[in-house]
Amino acid sequence: MRDTKFRTRLFLCFLAVIVMTLVLPGLYVRKNIKEGTPVGLKAKSYIDRGELVPDEVTCELVAARINEKDCENGFLLDGFPRNMEQARKLHEALDKAGMHLDYVVEILLPRQVAKNRIMGRRLCAVNNNHPNNIFIDAIKPEGDKCRVCGGALSARADDQNEEAINKRHDIYYNDVDGTLAAAHYFKKLAGQEPRMTYIELNGEGSIDSIRETLLSRLN
Ligand code: CO
Repeated sequence: MRDTKFRTRLFLCFLAVIVMTLVLPGLYVRKNIKEGTPVGLKAKSYIDRGELVPDEVTCELVAARINEKDCENGFLLDGFPRNMEQARKLHEALDKAGMHLDYVVEILLPRQVAKNRIMGRRLCAVNNNHPNNIFIDAIKPEGDKCRVCGGALSARADDQNEEAINKRHDIYYNDVDGTLAAAHYFKKLAGQEPRMTYIELNGEGSIDSIRETLLSRLN
């Protein structure tokens, strides 16, 4: 990996084991609200009115977060940017700070497969960490029992809320101004910017095989 002072990476929805700071904007917004920082109070004023925190405020928070000491050796953004506007603002903010992204990773997964993975998830009554999913062959339950311990299985209510899943996927799979548009914005940039690499991965395999493929493509 390049060893620049401001080594930065952006990964869109993927799993990897890399030593760097994981930046979760949602969590950071809540932390700032709790601590009553100026930008936290700004965000709170929107939430209190029942409005969404504007992209501008979220981006201000993200920019502040990645300038903290623990991001010196790199960071991984999870759940951000979610739309085109946030992608543009992130790019602007990084530019202004003399930073850039080394990698942008897009994991390709058909919408129906993504939905099945959520709706097929089952929770084991004995241990929450026992993976069971009726739509994933590798972790399919034994009948209606946990495949690891034989415990009783149940589905989480919000995993079965098809309307809510569709709403989130409408944003993610929107390639006009949603999350896919944000990904493609960086894909285009990577074509013009030699320091940035855009990696596309097939998300239909197992977590292990996706991780292996990804690691083999990072230099
Ligand atoms: Co179990």
